[in-house]
Amino acid sequence: MKSWADDARQKGLRIGFVPTMGYFHEGHLALMRRAKELADQVVVSIFVNPIQFGPQEDFRQYPRDLERDIRLAQEVGVDVIFTPEAQEMYPESFQTYVEVAKLTKPLCGARRPGHFRGVTTVCLKLFNIVRPHLAVFGLKDYQQYLVIRRMVADLDLDLEIIGHPIVREADGLAMSSRNVYLSTEERKSATCLYKALCLAQEKIKQGLREVSLLKRELEQFILSHPYTRIDYVEFCHPETLEPLSEVRGPTLLALAVFVGKARLIDNAVLKP
Ligand code: PAF
Repeated sequence: MKSWADDARQKGLRIGFVPTMGYFHEGHLALMRRAKELADQVVVSIFVNPIQFGPQEDFRQYPRDLERDIRLAQEVGVDVIFTPEAQEMYPESFQTYVEVAKLTKPLCGARRPGHFRGVTTVCLKLFNIVRPHLAVFGLKDYQQYLVIRRMVADLDLDLEIIGHPIVREADGLAMSSRNVYLSTEERKSATCLYKALCLAQEKIKQGLREVSLLKRELEQFILSHPYTRIDYVEFCHPETLEPLSEVRGPTLLALAVFVGKARLIDNAVLKP
């Protein structure tokens, strides 16, 4: 992978990169198409990164289908698919991690200790191996996008991070590899995340600005759907992720909700 990247750079080609954990859906394919528009060569990595999963999380069950992924990526016109092995990425001697200090504290960082340390460490390794000029990340993982951008700026990495809008199913459910965990009945309830985002925008438009009241409405709405359990409903500053008590300017509404055993996330930047 490194010698391919060196070669491409020597030829003056711009390398676009999409890091993934595989099991592709339209959201992944949209990131690949965006990279294709912006770069001469597109590399996609498929690596279910063990160090970003907690001990009780779904690393083992995480869905995998390499053959199908390769076919889909080829159809989009991806040039290189990079699929390293865990032992290559993390040999026994491995002991270096990179951590973004503050942006990783709230939201998913508070519920998934060590998650973002695993994400930034693997991304830095992948950036060093693939040597991209740009990398495309989906905005469904909004906090991840901010954390990666911070790492790239703080460590003076020479690449551009592009955020790509959330791709949704026809009924609004954000696409995610984890949606396969949902039963037919749970799948129906799962639309409550998107509907809650729309409800919040509507309430704000009607003049409701107090976060404690908005939160209460949204929590009640989500819990009125069977199989749901709220992990968090948070209103934060869209750049710093600091919690807000009132919606005055653009505000990130971030949701994490268990539907059955699937933990789903979604978000929107709401405007008063
Ligand atoms: O968003 C993901 O799929 C992963 O967190 C990433 C960026 C591929 C790192 O493992």
